[in-house]
Amino acid sequence: MSTDPRTIGWLSRALTHELGAVQQYLAQGVLARLWGDDGLAQSLEKNAQDELRHAQVLMEHLIYAGVAPAAGQIAPARLGRTLSDFMESNRLLETQAVRLYQQALAHAQRVRDAGRAAVFEGLLREELEHLHVINDQNPQSGGGLEKNHD
Ligand SMILES: [Fe+2]
Ligand SMILES: [Fe+2]
Repeated sequence: MSTDPRTIGWLSRALTHELGAVQQYLAQGVLARLWGDDGLAQSLEKNAQDELRHAQVLMEHLIYAGVAPAAGQIAPARLGRTLSDFMESNRLLETQAVRLYQQALAHAQRVRDAGRAAVFEGLLREELEHLHVINDQNPQSGGGLEKNHD
C-alpha cells in the first residue's frame, strides 16, 4: 500500500519533534548533574529515553513505508536556572507534542489510514501522560519543588 505523502510528512514532523525532545531532556539532565541533583538528572534521562523510543517507533514506520528518516531542524534545547524553568520549558514541549499528535491523528483518520492512526494515537496517549506528570509535579502554588541552582 502506498502511503499518503502528507502522512509521511506527519511522521517526519513528529520525528523532528522527538529528536528535539531527546536533546532537551538530555541537556537538562547534564545540567542537573552539574548541580549535583542526581535524582532530577535520572528522571530527565528517563524522559530522554521515552522520547528516543518514540523516535524509534516513527523511524520504523518511515522505513516500513520505504522512506529514509530525515528529521528537520531540531529546536535548540530550552534550559534555565531552576527546576521551575525546566518544568515550564517541558510543559511547552509536551504541549507541542500533544498538539502535533492530535493533528497527525486527525489527518490519518481523514485519509482512513487505521494503522498510522493507531500509531499516532498511542504516541498521543504517552505525550498526554508526560504532560500530566509535569502538571501534577508543579502546582501553581510553587513551594517545595522550587530550587534555585545559582
Ligand atoms: Fe515523545
Ligand atoms: Fe513527551
